[in-house]
Amino acid sequence: MIDSSNCTCPNAACERHGNCDACNAHHEGNGYCKRSSVIYIKDMSKITADMLNGFFAGWQNKPNPTTHIRIMQNSYRAIVAVDATTGMAVGFINSISDGILSAYIPLLEVLPEYRGKGIGRWLVRLMKQECKHLYMLDICHDEEIAPFYAKFEPTGQGRSTLFRNYEAQGGMNIDG
Ligand SMILES: CC(C)(COP(=O)(O)OP(=O)(O)OC[C@H]1O[C@@H](n2cnc3c(N)ncnc32)[C@H](O)[C@@H]1OP(=O)(O)O)[C@@H](O)C(=O)NCCC(=O)NCCS
Repeated sequence: MIDSSNCTCPNAACERHGNCDACNAHHEGNGYCKRSSVIYIKDMSKITADMLNGFFAGWQNKPNPTTHIRIMQNSYRAIVAVDATTGMAVGFINSISDGILSAYIPLLEVLPEYRGKGIGRWLVRLMKQECKHLYMLDICHDEEIAPFYAKFEPTGQGRSTLFRNYEAQGGMNIDG
């Protein structure tokens, strides 16, 4: 399941890119490469409803896995964290956007038993990377989650976390 197309290591030129076993062996003791067997999938055609279980914790009316897939497929960008040992999704994030200036992150969740392992951090980092050509990337959230988003050094924060890329303010990163 892990191959060079879904390896999230930024060092794409590395000969071990996409081969976590070899990478872990080579960098034993290096926290960066000792990350878990979780892989991050951006192509939603690779995600099926039976991989999605246990999300929307605490929601009164939970979207079912089929609806969840539709949400992800209809998003501007979507990323699913999958435990490669079980093949099950353990976290996800999505964004909706005009594709020119602005994007909004409506959903981010990591399953409770996988929290505190850096998966939420990776999902946000990867989504920021996916939206780096845009000027605005915004998130609305409860007050208590603000310390989590503060770690990404946003441009503005409160009950909303705001990322601004002023180089993209003119919308010139997009053809046409
Ligand atoms: C918020 C959430 C996605 C974090 O996922 P996670 O995988 O546990 O987060 P990470 O392990 O990557 O944590 C990254 C850092 O944020 C901190 N952090 C994680 N959750 C936090 C929270 N709820 N409040 C404050 N800090 C938090 C961690 O301690 C860690 O800090 P460190 O860098 O000092 O070690 C997860 O708790 C979750 O799914 N919560 C329920 C849904 C939710 O609230 N989503 C956000 C909607 S806006």
